[in-house]
Amino acid sequence: MTTTPTATAHRTTAVAARATELSKVYGQGETQVVALDRVSVDFRQGEFTAIMGPSGSGKSTLMHCVAGLDSFSSGSVRIGETELGTLKDKQLTQLRRDKIGFIFQAFNLLPTLTAAENITLPMDIAGRKPDPEWLKTVIDMVGLSDRLSHRPAQLSGGQQQRVAVARALASRPEIMFGDEPTGNLDSRSGAEVLGFLRNSVRELGQTVVMVTHDPSAASYADRVIFLADGRIVDEMLSPTADGVLDRMKEFDSKGRTS
Ligand SMILES: Nc1ncnc2c1ncn2[C@@H]1O[C@H](COP(=O)(O)OP(=O)(O)O)[C@@H](O)[C@H]1O
Ligand SMILES: [Mg+2]
Repeated sequence: MTTTPTATAHRTTAVAARATELSKVYGQGETQVVALDRVSVDFRQGEFTAIMGPSGSGKSTLMHCVAGLDSFSSGSVRIGETELGTLKDKQLTQLRRDKIGFIFQAFNLLPTLTAAENITLPMDIAGRKPDPEWLKTVIDMVGLSDRLSHRPAQLSGGQQQRVAVARALASRPEIMFGDEPTGNLDSRSGAEVLGFLRNSVRELGQTVVMVTHDPSAASYADRVIFLADGRIVDEMLSPTADGVLDRMKEFDSKGRTS
């Protein structure tokens, strides 16, 4: 399967994150698993990328290695101009905190804190003051202005994930990563959250990388990269849910005949 010619259209844009020949091997000997096999990929600034592929294809591993949450076996990763491989643990923690936003399937909010306190918690821990104007923009965008004093238990799942999106955006990160961010949501709340992620790219110029196995979630992205057995096997620009579904079926049928 070849990449469409338009795949290179805006390759000149600055790179928010880049993996080069990135490999990750778990275990040794007979139990060894190659979770990533020399993956090279750019995530450009102002772009929304979805990472898709069958269960076990390496999606979470790729995200975790690029986001500095996990070590890798070989190759290199850079966030902006910073090579992750050169950083000590403490510097890596700092980089994650200052430059990266995270959204996970589980909302990971602190139950005793209000929505507002949850949103600014990472910055409070880091001893940084959020830019009030930016914070207001973010909170308005995710429609939480009238829920700020609520605690997580008083919010729906969709609203809790909106708090998590605002929390990820609060520090104006260089790049945001989501691992199945809509995996725990009904389709309506999921669509809302995906809309906010897309708006954060289109309207606020953010960069988003999202792991998903849902073709309709992937259709919110500007680009989909497909993983299989730890390798990137295809890329699709301006994806539609039907287009992504068809592509996944092709992989399935190839898998059966080979
Ligand atoms: N901590 C781990 N120890 C051993 N193997 C792992 C570990 N994490 C993931 N793997 C293996 O690496 C491969 C890729 O996993 P993962 O990145 O979680 O895939 P995906 O997110 O696409 O489902 C799988 O074969 C998985 O079993
Ligand atoms: Mg996964």
